[in-house]
Amino acid sequence: METVRRPAEGREIELVRAAKEAACKARCTYSHFPVGAAIMLDDGRIVSGFNCESPAFTCGICAERMAIYTAVNEFDLHPHDAILIAVWGRTEDPISPCGLCRQVMWDILGPETPVILSDCNDMVLRTTVRELLPLGFKDEDLA
Ligand code: THU
Repeated sequence: METVRRPAEGREIELVRAAKEAACKARCTYSHFPVGAAIMLDDGRIVSGFNCESPAFTCGICAERMAIYTAVNEFDLHPHDAILIAVWGRTEDPISPCGLCRQVMWDILGPETPVILSDCNDMVLRTTVRELLPLGFKDEDLA
């Protein structure tokens, strides 16, 4: 995992911008903490999501899972279909996805998918789902 923040480069730039734009749609009445996520598919299409909260707090959903489940619905997303996911948060340092989202990234995107974590300074850290979730729970574990 990268440890030094850097500006986005190449196709990361477009994806971070999409994640940041999605954060503008966040429904974060309770936390006042907007988050956006964007997934790039192998054909270049982009699917985004934002956090959506509820007065019954646990009903809310994070930006990452909204983006992932939207991609499942719209494009029947499976592991290896996504080439990159970006997450943008209004944080000083690149945002750190929650544990639930890390597991869903593992389930739907696959452990080797690159993840771009971004912040309010538009700096990024590049990592992978596996680095974010070592020993993720997997299908074979159910056998
Ligand atoms: N949140 C996300 O959407 N993604 C993250 O990576 C971290 C947290 C949301 C959940 C909740 O709506 C708000 O941020 C505060 O936790």
